[in-house]
Amino acid sequence: MKKYVILLSALLLIVGCSNLKEQTASKTDEVKKTVEEKVVKKIVKPQYEKKVIDGRTYINGILIVNKQIGLPKDYNPGEDPVAHQAIEQLMQAGNRTGLQFVLRSSFRSYDNQAMLYQNYVARDGKAAADTYSAEPGHSEHQTGLAYDVGSVVSANDFRVSFGTTPEGEWLKHHAHEFGFIIRYGEGKTHITGYQYEPWHVRYVGKKVANEIYKSNKTLEEYLGLYPKDLTETVK
Ligand code: DAL
Ligand code: ZN
Repeated sequence: MKKYVILLSALLLIVGCSNLKEQTASKTDEVKKTVEEKVVKKIVKPQYEKKVIDGRTYINGILIVNKQIGLPKDYNPGEDPVAHQAIEQLMQAGNRTGLQFVLRSSFRSYDNQAMLYQNYVARDGKAAADTYSAEPGHSEHQTGLAYDVGSVVSANDFRVSFGTTPEGEWLKHHAHEFGFIIRYGEGKTHITGYQYEPWHVRYVGKKVANEIYKSNKTLEEYLGLYPKDLTETVK
C-alpha cells in the first residue's frame, strides 16, 4: 500500500511538472509573439510624411528621386535658382583656398537622360550602366537640384578617384556648408543602388545637409525610406 502511495505521489508530481512546463512554454510563446508583432508593426509603419504632387514624391517636404521613385517625363523645371547660387558659392569658396573646381553637369531633361543612359547601356550593357547611370525619369539631374563637380585637371572627373583629389576631399567636408550632400556615398551602394559618386552633389538646404553630413546617412536613411520594406510602401 505504502508503495502505491509513493508511486502515485511520484506520478502526480511528474504530471504537475509537465503541466507547469507547458504553461511556462505557452507564456513564453505569447511574449515572443507580442514582441514579434511589435517589431513588424514598427518596421512597416512609415515614420515620414509623404506627398505626391503632380507625380513628384516629397518625403518630409524633400523631393525624392531614386531607383524606386521617379519623376514624370514632362517634369522639366530647369536648374533651380537657389541651388545654382549655392553651387556657385561652393565653387568660389573652394577656389579661394587654391582649388580649381569646374562644373561638369547640372540640369538634365528626361530626354537628355534617356540619350545618356541608352549610350551607356549600348557601351557597357544594362547591368553595368545601372550601377552608375539613372534610367530616364530617375535621375536627380532632372530635378535641377543636382550637380556633377570636377576639377580643372580632369583626369579624375567622374571617377571614384575624384574622392581623393584635393577638390574631392574638400567637397566631402564642405558641401554641407552650402546645402549640398554627397548623394551616393562610399559603402552605400546597397542603399542607393549606385556606385560611390564623390562628384555628385544634391541640394537639400543647409539644415538637412548638415544633419546628413554629421550622421553619415544617405538621403534614404535620413528620410526613413530604408530599410527597403519602407521604400516598397511609398511606391
Ligand atoms: N549618375 C547618376 C546616378 C545619374 O545618372 O543621375
Ligand atoms: Zn550626377
